[in-house]
Amino acid sequence: MASERSRVLSGIQPSAGSFHLGNYLGAVRQWVSLQESYDTYYMLADLHAITVAQDPEALRTNTRLSAAQILAAGVDPERSVLFAQSHVPEHAELAWVMNCLTGFGEASRMTQFKDKAAKQGAEGTTVGLFTYPVLQVADILLYQPQQVPVGEDQRQHVELTRDLAERFNARYGETFVVPEAYILKETAKIYDLQEPTAKMSKSAASPKGLVNLMDEPKATAKKIRSAVTDTGSEIRFDRENKPGVSNLLNIYANLTGLTVQALEEKYQGKLYGALKTDLADVVVDFVTPFRDRTREYLDDPATLDKILAAGAEKAREVASPTLTAAYDKVGFLRPAR
Ligand code: TRP
Repeated sequence: MASERSRVLSGIQPSAGSFHLGNYLGAVRQWVSLQESYDTYYMLADLHAITVAQDPEALRTNTRLSAAQILAAGVDPERSVLFAQSHVPEHAELAWVMNCLTGFGEASRMTQFKDKAAKQGAEGTTVGLFTYPVLQVADILLYQPQQVPVGEDQRQHVELTRDLAERFNARYGETFVVPEAYILKETAKIYDLQEPTAKMSKSAASPKGLVNLMDEPKATAKKIRSAVTDTGSEIRFDRENKPGVSNLLNIYANLTGLTVQALEEKYQGKLYGALKTDLADVVVDFVTPFRDRTREYLDDPATLDKILAAGAEKAREVASPTLTAAYDKVGFLRPAR
């Protein structure tokens, strides 16, 4: 039965292992709610992960761990298509075609590439890292989605996707849906606990600023209680002047569903310590069952692998005809059958 709902596709690199609070509140939780109103395709971007060196066993472990966490967060494999990028060969195949439509200068202007290349140095910067955005273009276009839910940092990659879809369509005839970025809410953006003007990231300067969901809840509680707060004592949301307190209020609001305003009232006249102690409890109450559910999936890798295999099969049902259409347009001979 053809679906009336519009389609979304998103992806996450599985290389980090444990998700952090920023990944969860900033992306994966949105994925769960999008299931209500869209046809959702969610991908573990393992091909993207190897654009920087990975230990093979760690990559395999982290891919299963990422899948388990996505499921534990509430992505339902009956309603969403959850798959590993490497299980769907059409991604690499369409990426090649897209590479041949992308200008070298155009790719050189991708800011995330420039940042990552600066970190990797000349030796560590691979051609794969350079064409990373083009692979992402292929990921998206294969599924003909209307929307691509991503954080602000991925906007340029979605713009490139639009440009290449339009270029392909203009050159070869209407083939791809030109998708839009569905930029996840600014309120979902979580900052480092020790450096609350920097986005929470696995490459945090200090591990104390980073809340990994799979960490021991006790250790997590301690990190929250020792979060950096701002001068003054008032508990008020003010990103400019009180980035530390604002980040804590935002995490609190996101995990409980309470509004920031309600929290400001609750903590009126109280000290930072009270906010931190309570938030530590809130976070522990969230991560404890989350870790348990994730572990249950990990304890049964055969089932997990079956979920991914079924997802890849469903993904290919969409990706394969799109690739065939693109190959035809480009002028490739169809193999005789
Ligand atoms: N580059 C994305 C990130 O780092 C992950 C990703 C890969 C992705 N392919 C995608 C996101 C396709 C959206 C659509 O967050």
